[in-house]
Amino acid sequence: MKQSKVTVIGAGNVGATAAQRLAEKNIANVVLIDVAEGIAKGKALDLMEARPVELEDRYILGGSDYALSEGSDVVLMTAGLARKPGMSRDDLLKINADIVTACIENAYKYSPNAIFIVVSNPVDAMTQLTYQILSVKGVAKHKIIGMAGVLDSSRMAFFIAEALDVSVKNIQPCVLGGHGDDMVPVARYTTVAGVPLTELLSEEKINAIIERTQKGGIEIVNLLQTGSAFYAPASSAVEMIDAILLNKKQILPCSCYLEGEYGISGVFVGVPTKLSSNGIEQILELKLTEPELAALKSSAESVRKNIQRLDDLRQLTS
Ligand code: 2OP
Repeated sequence: MKQSKVTVIGAGNVGATAAQRLAEKNIANVVLIDVAEGIAKGKALDLMEARPVELEDRYILGGSDYALSEGSDVVLMTAGLARKPGMSRDDLLKINADIVTACIENAYKYSPNAIFIVVSNPVDAMTQLTYQILSVKGVAKHKIIGMAGVLDSSRMAFFIAEALDVSVKNIQPCVLGGHGDDMVPVARYTTVAGVPLTELLSEEKINAIIERTQKGGIEIVNLLQTGSAFYAPASSAVEMIDAILLNKKQILPCSCYLEGEYGISGVFVGVPTKLSSNGIEQILELKLTEPELAALKSSAESVRKNIQRLDDLRQLTS
């Protein structure tokens, strides 16, 4: 049976942790690509040397040559700068756009049929940039996906589990919108063992959880001081890859290109999707209240502004 192949671009913390989880969960063979060839080769070799202990059958190759990535089923784009304290994800716009452009062009040459998952920040804009690069080559929108909703939902789920002192497995969170401070955690659609969160916690406690979820990324940045979160982002990306490679038809919140859904068009933003071996098989449209919909639209507008700002920056420097 053909084994799945995933290329992880960027051998930094997110990329290397994703490679480790993919191998340990026996999901796919992994190619770790980085401009710093020694880092990619070294981390891949280190992971390979763990295989006899971990009893993994999957290989992990590393290098800077995209030829290694040929024929990948999924390309996970993690390369780019991470935030430092005092920075917003949007401050990374121009520099990460240049990195994403070069990496995606190279990866596409060797894996034109892959599904592309983008993690680099600001993620919704970087996913849209990937779409701009690949759609002209004929790649369909359902094969280009941004990772953020799973991460934001996972953070929300953890905070709820802590507040209620129950297992994280009982929490079904719901977070919509772009991966920024104006993301939209929806308490009304969040359940704990089937019970709406709104029946279990006071409005004040729910609002505190919503705010902590929105600021979940910067909370870690401020603690680490030297970079941003990577364990939870890597786990989130791996969950998406697993759903795709195993054709699970799992409902996961992902950044995807909206064309009229929720009354939003022409922008990548996080909404619930069904993931299968085709990538985004379906976008689910939840019935939202007016304030919820207004918050989602406002979050989508922030993404749109970022994309516009990126276009302006790129025109200035071209
Ligand atoms: C975060 O929220 C890295 O954007 C990512 O931690």
